[in-house]
Amino acid sequence: MADEETTIRLIRVDDAEVIAAHRARDRRAYAAWEPAQPDEFYTAAGQRRRIETLLGEHDRGERWPAVILAGGEVVGQVTVSTILRGPFRKGFLGYWVASAFDGRGHATRAVGRILTVMARELGLHRAEAHTRMDNLASQRVLRANGFRPWGIAHAHIHLDGAWHDEVFWERTLDDAPSS
Ligand SMILES: CC(C)(COP(=O)(O)OP(=O)(O)OC[C@H]1O[C@@H](n2cnc3c(N)ncnc32)[C@H](O)[C@@H]1OP(=O)(O)O)[C@@H](O)C(=O)NCCC(=O)NCCS
Repeated sequence: MADEETTIRLIRVDDAEVIAAHRARDRRAYAAWEPAQPDEFYTAAGQRRRIETLLGEHDRGERWPAVILAGGEVVGQVTVSTILRGPFRKGFLGYWVASAFDGRGHATRAVGRILTVMARELGLHRAEAHTRMDNLASQRVLRANGFRPWGIAHAHIHLDGAWHDEVFWERTLDDAPSS
C-alpha cells in the first residue's frame, strides 16, 4: 500500500457526490480536526454549490482547489487558499484524506504534488499551513514535505466546541519537488 499511486487534479463539480459521501462518513471522526459545517455541506447538492464557489475563486487566482486521487478514485482534497501576490507570493495549504484511505501516504504525496504546482504553475515563493498541537499525523505530513514549525498561535481555532492552540508551519518553495 505504501507506494500506491497518488495524484492530484483541479476539483470538478462532478466530484461533489463522492466528496459529500466521504465527509458525511467522517463527520464525527474528523470533528476534532475540521471546522463545523452546516448540514448541506454533507450533501451532493451542497458540495456542488461549494465547488462552484471554489472554482470561481480559482478563476480569480485566489485559490487552487484540488482533489486527491488514489488509482483514479477521489479520496480527499488538497487546496491552496489565500494566494497572495506582490511582495509575498505565498499560499496557505489545507488537506484531508477520507479515513477509509488514511495511513497509506496519500496526504504526504499529495502535499508534495501541490508544492510542485505552487512553485511551477503558480509561481509562488512560500507555503504556509496550520495544525492543531495534537494533530500529529498532519504534522508528520508537513515535516515529510520540508515544512518547519515557526510558532504557536494560542486559542487560534474553534473546533469541536472549544478553542485550540495551533502550530504555524512554513516552507519556501525554491527547492520544491519538480514532479
Ligand atoms: C491528517 C491526514 C490528512 C493524514 O492523511 P494520511 O493520508 O493518513 O497521511 P499519510 O499516510 O501521508 O501520513 C500520515 C503520517 O502520520 C503518522 N500518523 C498517523 N497517525 C498518527 C498519530 N496518531 N500520531 C503520530 N503519527 C501519526 C503516520 O505514521 C504517517 O507518518 P509516516 O509517513 O512518517 O509513517 C488525515 O488523517 C486527515 O484527513 N485527517 C483529518 C483532517 C485533518 O487533520 N486535516 C489536516 C488539518 S491541519
